[in-house]
Amino acid sequence: MEARCSSCFFTAVLLCRLAGMAQASCDFPAMFNFGDSNSDTGGLSAVFGQAPWPEGETYFHSPAGRYTDGRVVVDFIAESLGLPYLSAYLNSVGSNFSHGANFATAGSTIRPQNTTLQQSGFSPISLDVQYNEFYEFHNRTPVARQKGEVFEKLLPKEEVFSKALYTFDIGQNDLTAGYFMNMSTSEVRAYLPDVLGQFKNIVSYVYSQGGRFFWIHNTGPVGCLPYVMERVPIMASQVDHVGCASPFNEVAQDFNRGLKEVVMQLRQELPQAAITYVDVYSVKYSLISHPEKYGFKHPLRTCCGHGGRYNYDIHMGCGATAMVDGEEVMVAKSCDNPALHVNWDGVHFTEAANRQIFKHIRSGLFSDPPVPLSSACLRMPPS
Ligand SMILES: *[C@@H]1O[C@H](CO)[C@@H](O)[C@H](O)[C@H]1NC(C)=O
Ligand SMILES: *[C@@H]1O[C@H](CO)[C@@H](O)[C@H](O)[C@H]1NC(C)=O
Ligand SMILES: *[C@@H]1O[C@H](CO)[C@@H](O)[C@H](O)[C@H]1NC(C)=O
Repeated sequence: MEARCSSCFFTAVLLCRLAGMAQASCDFPAMFNFGDSNSDTGGLSAVFGQAPWPEGETYFHSPAGRYTDGRVVVDFIAESLGLPYLSAYLNSVGSNFSHGANFATAGSTIRPQNTTLQQSGFSPISLDVQYNEFYEFHNRTPVARQKGEVFEKLLPKEEVFSKALYTFDIGQNDLTAGYFMNMSTSEVRAYLPDVLGQFKNIVSYVYSQGGRFFWIHNTGPVGCLPYVMERVPIMASQVDHVGCASPFNEVAQDFNRGLKEVVMQLRQELPQAAITYVDVYSVKYSLISHPEKYGFKHPLRTCCGHGGRYNYDIHMGCGATAMVDGEEVMVAKSCDNPALHVNWDGVHFTEAANRQIFKHIRSGLFSDPPVPLSSACLRMPPS
């Protein structure tokens, strides 16, 4: 603490303030998550079919509704809050919602898309739909709990909704949606205010349902992901020193600046909310730009895929099979050691990378205000 106090005055002031506040630990009894594949724990799988093997191989040893070899960042968040992993709201088999629910689905966008999953790959469960689900969940829970027995055990008490942590990790697909429809970077930029406006509305709707504590991830460096680099052509001069495509990363950073602005507006408009903005972008970019520092060998090349510069082929995603001599064989297999890869399948991060991301963001060093996850319920007075 002393070393920090002398190295950074503002952090010192905050830490000292925190130390003086009620134990600085929030005891969140539940978590409600909204998002895309970065935080899906089974939503898309429940509706459109299970993500295939080798998804889940490292940690769950079988597919577990996640688009990675193991856990996603919200799993690590839940674990550190002392909560079981979140059941997907859409998963009606074996779910326990007493400690929260996960509304995220892979392929989700903030704005509803005007295409089907089959046409574009984007989920119909956009953020507005996720909010509708949450609204239903919140309003039907007390009615169901009155039936007692298992309903009481599998659903949260009313008071949990105002004490829970509400997490958001969404926006990446809104950026790629435009590019995949052949829009230029300036066309994508032009619709960002609409996307951010819709995001802002949803957070205030959750507040109106009693939500108070918000943990909002910004969007990652999409220009470092093979599925973007392989699909959207750019010029050689637009590749940065790490090997990422700058135009997409610049748009992601534009989105993030706008998101931070939205968070500041929400703090004004929702006086009882504690809203933490979390700079996941910087952590993800560090893993890719300094892989060896975090124990990785391959920053861009995927672990699970087939062919090409990045071991990624859009037509043969992770787990894809083909008929060879009348036998079905897996063509897009996973690598020997996923923990050496930052990227799992061209789109998503490996469990090892997700663990690193969590390790960095939990401390508060990448957050505004710079409070640790365990203190995200504290409303920081303006410094
Ligand atoms: C649901 O999860 C909670 C922990 O959050 C646990 O105490 C409870 O026993 C679980 N209920 C059932 C029926 O498994
Ligand atoms: C979908 O279409 C509606 C009506 O034309 C339009 O307002 C909306 O912006 C479109 N959404 C997207 C993501 O393009
Ligand atoms: C985008 O452009 C490519 C190449 O010209 C074309 O094959 C594809 O159909 C276009 N996609 C859309 C959604 O217009």
